[in-house]
Amino acid sequence: MFSPEVQAVIDRVDALRDQVDDHWQIPAAEGLILAQIVRAGRCESICEVGTSYGFSTLHLAAAARANGGHVHTIDIDPRKTEAATASLRDAGLLDVVTLHTGKAQDVLAELKPQRAVDFAFIDAWKDQSFEYLEALMPLLAKRATLITDNTSTHADELSDFVAHLRKLPGATGCSVDVGNGFEWTILDRA
Ligand SMILES: C[S@@+](CC[C@H](N)C(=O)[O-])C[C@H]1O[C@@H](n2cnc3c(N)ncnc32)[C@H](O)[C@@H]1O
Repeated sequence: MFSPEVQAVIDRVDALRDQVDDHWQIPAAEGLILAQIVRAGRCESICEVGTSYGFSTLHLAAAARANGGHVHTIDIDPRKTEAATASLRDAGLLDVVTLHTGKAQDVLAELKPQRAVDFAFIDAWKDQSFEYLEALMPLLAKRATLITDNTSTHADELSDFVAHLRKLPGATGCSVDVGNGFEWTILDRA
C-alpha cells in the first residue's frame, strides 16, 4: 500500500512495540484503515492529537501526500516529537507534516491550519478527550471526519465521550472493532 521507502520506516517504528514501553501506538491494521479513510474521504487538512513516535502519523502523512494534503500533529513530550520528526524525514514525508510540541489544548487554541480541518484523530489521554474536542471544534470544516482511538481498549473511560460525539449536530457515528477499536464520527454541518 505504501512505497518501499515509507513502508521500511513504518516497519522500523512498528518494531518499537517490542523495544520501548511508552510507544502506545495503534496496531498496524488500524494504521492501514486510517490511511484508507483519509484517502477515501480525500481529506487534505489533517490534525492528530497524540503523535508519540509517529507510527500513526506516518500512515496519515502517506495518505495526506496522496491527497495533496497536510498533517498537523501534537505531542506534549519533546523527546517523542524529535523521534517522530526523524522517522518522517527518513520516510520522505516531513514536508507534509508540521509537528508541534505542547499541550494539545494550548496548541490547538493557537493553530491556524491553511484549510479547515477535515480529518482529526484523537489519541492522547482519555480523560482529556472532551478538552481536545472543545479545542478542535472551531478548527473543523463543515464536513469533517473525527476518529477517536481506544473505544475497545478503554470502553468504560470513553463511553460518555462517545455518547457526546453521537449527539453533536450533524453527527453520525459508528464503532469500528479494528486494532484498539475506534469511534468513527462524520460531522456534516454543511
Ligand atoms: C497513545 S499515544 C499516541 C500514539 C500515536 N497516535 C500512534 O498511534 O502512533 C498518546 C500520546 O499523547 C501524548 N499526550 C498526552 N497528553 C497530551 C496532551 N495534553 N497534549 C499533547 N499530547 C499529549 C503522550 O505524550 C503520548 O505520546
